[in-house]
Amino acid sequence: DEHKVNGGKSKDEQLEKFRSDERDKHMTTNQGLKVSEDEFSLKAGERGPTLMEDFHFREKMTHFDHERIPERVVHARGYGAHGEFELYKSMKPYTKANFLQEPGSKVPVFVRFSTVAGSKGSPDIPRDVRGFATKFYTDEGNFDLVGNNMPVFFIQDGIKFPDLIHAVKPEPDTGYPQAASAHDTFWDFIANNQESAHMMMWLMSPRAIPRNLRMMEGFGVHTFRFVNEEGKAHFVKFHWKPTLGVHSTVWDEAQKINGKDPDFTRRDIHESIENGDYPEWELGVQIVPEEDEFKFDFDVLDPTKIWPEEDVPVEIIGKMTLNRNVDNVFAETEQVAFHPGHVVPGIDFTNDPLLQGRLFSYTDTQLIRLGGPNFHELPINRPVCPFHNNQRDGYGRQTINVGKTSYHKNSLAKNHPRPASEEEGGYVHYQEKVEGRKVQARSESFKDHFSQAAMFYNSMSDPEKKHIEEAFSFELGMVEDKDIRQQVVDMVSNIDLSLSQAVAENIGVDAPAEGGNDYKKISPALSQENTTHKAD
Ligand code: HEM
Repeated sequence: DEHKVNGGKSKDEQLEKFRSDERDKHMTTNQGLKVSEDEFSLKAGERGPTLMEDFHFREKMTHFDHERIPERVVHARGYGAHGEFELYKSMKPYTKANFLQEPGSKVPVFVRFSTVAGSKGSPDIPRDVRGFATKFYTDEGNFDLVGNNMPVFFIQDGIKFPDLIHAVKPEPDTGYPQAASAHDTFWDFIANNQESAHMMMWLMSPRAIPRNLRMMEGFGVHTFRFVNEEGKAHFVKFHWKPTLGVHSTVWDEAQKINGKDPDFTRRDIHESIENGDYPEWELGVQIVPEEDEFKFDFDVLDPTKIWPEEDVPVEIIGKMTLNRNVDNVFAETEQVAFHPGHVVPGIDFTNDPLLQGRLFSYTDTQLIRLGGPNFHELPINRPVCPFHNNQRDGYGRQTINVGKTSYHKNSLAKNHPRPASEEEGGYVHYQEKVEGRKVQARSESFKDHFSQAAMFYNSMSDPEKKHIEEAFSFELGMVEDKDIRQQVVDMVSNIDLSLSQAVAENIGVDAPAEGGNDYKKISPALSQENTTHKAD
């Protein structure tokens, strides 16, 4: 295709070098020695003990013993596929990112979808957030858009993420429940961390039980920054919109599917790709000029807030098509390493404190999950462009770096890798002006936990509202601690009084008498007051 960026460099061609086709071959050891026997170990006499010198037995068993790696600490259950992204509309006025310049240009992508809370073997349709992570293999390096199927998040600062996940994962004293939502620690976290109100509404909505992976949206969630050739910056949010539209299951259906076919959504996407019925998403962007940073009644860097589409329209700029299943789920889907910090020139970060926390976490976890510092050499993680630096050695190193020197600066080697200037394509961090005192706080509007939660609820149709009421009643109804049930129902009264009253009646706690979402009144002492509320 003449329009391919990457000078036609294809991820598939790169992967081809690593494929191994075992058909019609003799079996060998890892040393290449042909094996003559693979059913009986070597013994001292027909009825004797197995001998240590049976190298094939030892090697086969040792490798098997080490086959498992840790599952991801979150998003353990996932499914991936290859595809391509094609640009419709040049983003040149906003960003110099190469893959967003020329309409018609294409780059290879790899996507991994996931649930968040369940373990690797958990069913496909729990009530949960879905991960939607895309790796764009551009000729300027990998750009990872590591998003979810909901546009906001539970917390506003990365420092709370371990707490959130500890509350969501199976309770430590019992090892259950697997479900993301239906338990005391999860709801206790929600009640005591009320910035989760907006996300809680999304989680109780049908969005949390998608029909399948092809029919859900994706969101970058955070505010990122586009930077153009002239060095001018715009705030940007990313959206994936499925061309099949957004569809959900109903809860009863989801529960039955989980029991009968826990692989339902992975089977669906695999088969649709095999059948040539390729899943597609259009990429949309919302763009806000930097000058407008303070024009909204929320902070544009608050990850618990959306930018309402009425105020900031979503502009569709391209389309992603998933057109090839993986050859090997472990090698590709499990070993892929996404990171919101993998950016290309023209895309930069903002001071969204949740994003800032994520920038630390991903490489850190992958260092243990993927066994050391060389996982960027794994085939699925390699950029399609060359990569060179002075990093060396470490477990499992594959590259044979040639030459005497591995340091900068030096004069011994004439052509050792040297930094590129901006003109040569070097990444230059956006020179945002930063000043202030060291503080552990955020702007006042971060405390408005309920306005957008209410806006979300009010935007729902009546059947959707009914689903939300039923979801709350089911999930909260399973919570054993009556205090927690009461606290959450009281919290919901700040979003919608009649919803909270209906749920209260369904689950047998006191119906809140008044609600209201004036955060200036509610928020400051909120968690204190609510935790002391006693049910009768
Ligand atoms: C996976 C941390 C918030 C989307 C992960 C992993 C960690 C992590 C440690 C496992 C990565 C791996 O083993 O390769 C965090 C932290 C967060 C945070 C510390 C908050 C500070 C978010 C948010 C989103 C998100 C807000 C969505 C916008 C994902 C996705 C994956 C993931 C999609 C799975 C990637 C894959 O399929 O391999 N996260 N996360 N995370 N996270 Fe986050």
